Amino acid sequence: MPAIKEAFSSRLGVILAVAGSAVGLGNFLRFPGLAAQYGGGAFMIAYFVSLLVLGIPIGWAEWTIGRKGGLAGFHSSPGIFHVIVHHRLGKYLGLLGFIIPVVVYMYYVYIEAWCLGYALNAAAGTFSQPGVNYGAFFASFTGAGANGASLRFGLQDVGIFVIIVYALNFFFIYRGLSKGIEFVCKWGIPILIVIALVILGRVLTLGTPDPTKPDQNVLNALGYMWNPQDIATGLKNPQLWLAAAGQIFFSLSVGFGAVITYASYLRKKDDVVLSGLTAASANEFCEVGLGGLITVPAAFVFLGAAGIAGQGTFSLGFNVLPHVFSKMPFGDFFATIFYLLLFIAAITSSLSMLQPGIAFFEEGLGWKRKSAMGLLAGLTGLGTLLVWWFSKDLKALDTMDFWIGTVGIFIQGMILVMVYSWYIGIEAAWAETHEGAAMRIPLFYKFILKYISPAFLLIVFVMFIAANVFGWNFALGAGAQFKPTSYVTDLVGPNPSGVARGTFLFCLGVIVLVGYLIKIAGKNWARASGETKL
Ligand code: ALA
Repeated sequence: MPAIKEAFSSRLGVILAVAGSAVGLGNFLRFPGLAAQYGGGAFMIAYFVSLLVLGIPIGWAEWTIGRKGGLAGFHSSPGIFHVIVHHRLGKYLGLLGFIIPVVVYMYYVYIEAWCLGYALNAAAGTFSQPGVNYGAFFASFTGAGANGASLRFGLQDVGIFVIIVYALNFFFIYRGLSKGIEFVCKWGIPILIVIALVILGRVLTLGTPDPTKPDQNVLNALGYMWNPQDIATGLKNPQLWLAAAGQIFFSLSVGFGAVITYASYLRKKDDVVLSGLTAASANEFCEVGLGGLITVPAAFVFLGAAGIAGQGTFSLGFNVLPHVFSKMPFGDFFATIFYLLLFIAAITSSLSMLQPGIAFFEEGLGWKRKSAMGLLAGLTGLGTLLVWWFSKDLKALDTMDFWIGTVGIFIQGMILVMVYSWYIGIEAAWAETHEGAAMRIPLFYKFILKYISPAFLLIVFVMFIAANVFGWNFALGAGAQFKPTSYVTDLVGPNPSGVARGTFLFCLGVIVLVGYLIKIAGKNWARASGETKL
């Protein structure tokens, strides 16, 4: 097993890196979209329950497992599970910890390129031109209008930005943990918070921009987002719980494969309890405190509820908001810094999706960092090309996001909590978590980690599959109906989507390939430990 001599420069460096991984597009686009869609108050209850029962405790489990694996010399998810789970199949429990970051990177970086492109277009005044059609711009820039439509390289096409974003990500990854990832997060997070505060100041002082529409004012906008609307009915909607739990995982990057790798660079006495909590708190500050107060309220004061209703996350961010900024004084400036903020948030997350893959190639296959980067760039580049070319209705992107970026994360979250609470055992794992801890976790979390988190996660996951794959209407008995969703009918229905099928097969292919590489890595690790014993 090759010794990988990499490290963050300090504990703050790891916290910043994990916070950077967490704070991303999920905070500023996905969260406000979901909160508005599910009626603010009720969604927030399910959201905070998921944070307390899933996000924070499973995050602690992931930090602990990561540090434990790192102390045994491993930094990739397959390696870490290999050394912790003493079974020849143990290493495969880490498969998703490789697959999720690598596959999510393929499409995440594509959206990151939109952010950079939109920032430059805003700076160039594209969005404030008279008569600009925002929907048409979005369709052509992102390729959502037609396959292959965005494989062009002008200022108003995504092409050049995909290339810049790829180059930047691999440049920083090449510089390593401390000079690359830590450096970007150390500067990026404060900058993005300052930008968000400036934009927030602008949004909260918008007042009533159109006196002929007095209802469209800031207070009503905040009310639209946050007033509890029929909480009881909201909480009875299982989809709301599924959305809230999914958002917590996605947003905190828990079960993603990133935190486990970052934590593996800690030392034995480095705290994980306060660090995990600090990173999660930073994420929540950015998500609820900043993201939740900017996007939807800004759209409301200019366009009213009708302008927001039914808009998906992407449409809200890249179709509605440019329109909103164009109506604001100094709109080009605010649009530029807003998309810059999204870009910074995105790059600190996408970097965290590369390190797990590189760590695996290095320690599993014995490759040098440069070759590992080359292989990863090739593999992720192939996936990004797929998303980029088959862009109509963002079908390829959506297919990857559903099967890997959502279903995959639930499964990996479950593996983490089961290995922590049941395989290592809650008592031993709890003691391990508290090695060097800067604070103690309240004791009742032992019970939560052992019973509540796995049970809650299992229920959420089973319901998620029943509803979002098999289309169950949540009724029991005679009223129960199953109508497979488009995620299934696209693959096996009478009118399948070639793009969805191709993308699904591509993901399966990556899983099989990585499974095979893990097998080879396992042999290398067995040989190395045999040699050590000799
Ligand atoms: N956690 C990252 C985000 O929220 C992936 O975008």
